[in-house]
Amino acid sequence: MITLGIETSCDETAVAILRDRDEILANTIYSQVDLHARYGGVVPELASRDHLKKLPYLVEEALGKAKVSWKEIELVGVTYGPGLIGPLVVGVSYAKGLSVALDVPFVGVHHLAAHLFAHRLAYPNVPPPFLGLIVSGGHTELVVVKDWDDFRVIGTTRDDAAGEALDKLGRLVGLGYPAGPTIDSLAREGDAKAIPFPRPMLGEGFDTSFAGLKTAAVRWLKDHPHPDLKDLCASYLEAIADVLVDKAIRAARIYELERIVVVGGVAANSRLREVFPDLAAERGMKVFFPPPELCTDNAVMVAACAYYRFAERGHCDPLFLSPEANLPLDGWGAGEMDIGAQGQQ
Ligand code: KG4
Ligand code: ZN
Repeated sequence: MITLGIETSCDETAVAILRDRDEILANTIYSQVDLHARYGGVVPELASRDHLKKLPYLVEEALGKAKVSWKEIELVGVTYGPGLIGPLVVGVSYAKGLSVALDVPFVGVHHLAAHLFAHRLAYPNVPPPFLGLIVSGGHTELVVVKDWDDFRVIGTTRDDAAGEALDKLGRLVGLGYPAGPTIDSLAREGDAKAIPFPRPMLGEGFDTSFAGLKTAAVRWLKDHPHPDLKDLCASYLEAIADVLVDKAIRAARIYELERIVVVGGVAANSRLREVFPDLAAERGMKVFFPPPELCTDNAVMVAACAYYRFAERGHCDPLFLSPEANLPLDGWGAGEMDIGAQGQQ
């Protein structure tokens, strides 16, 4: 079965073609970072317009790479939330149009569920249950994943997400946007113990809050106007990593889960990938990270989730499915099999 996946929830226009469960035929991504760089963050209206401009070309490019013709597409999957509403409308409208034009089913996908499906692509033989840690630009979520359609959110971000905290540090010291990858490489050569940054909410529940960490960095920078960027990045990143690792391991222990799955853009971070497995192993747990290219936003994970919902759960969505900027993950996708099929007709 050939699935075409579309992702436009933020500042990446992505299209993928997947054969069956996990054979990636094409994974095309156009990043808008240059467009938004001078504003220090994503400008929603500019993002929408750019998705609209690039999406049709990306679909053609993906078909070319995959050597698949329009007629061979059997399913269209698209992210319909959460995300920026304008960009979501572009992707969802295009996907609906394609579904009608090709006369194939249409499946709406939750962006954070899709991030978790990156694990299914990378480790097809390591199924749920597991504890999911989703760390991206807008989210820090701890999720008990009992099955691929059974998501229970046990911890969320109270203010700034982990990626947002990194991007904000980047803005403070002029590292460009998004700053995560630059902080990652600078930190590798720095001393993580150089600056004693706070570990917000360490040991307290499963929610996270990184706004205070950014404030601590602002204060520290006032006293140290010419910082050693390597030490600064290493110390700041270490504070975030300590909190994430502590919460995930505690949650896995309490919910009696032996596996932790880390996904989302920040899961590409080399420090997190280095320290997490050993700390978890000390407690008899195993940690899984998808390859970095499947951690950051992409459409393969969207196609994989759509394939699961259609081919393995018998679900498709009606064409009146609307994009939802704040679509909740808790309970998403459970107990709604087959209702969409009527809406398609
Ligand atoms: O999942 P993602 O691509 O998009 C969202 O859904 O938000 O995550 C983007 C976030 C950004 O904050 C970016 O700075 C961060 O992931 N990021 C990283 C790395 N690569 C991307 N953070 C730390 N280390 C990295 N290597
Ligand atoms: Zn994402």
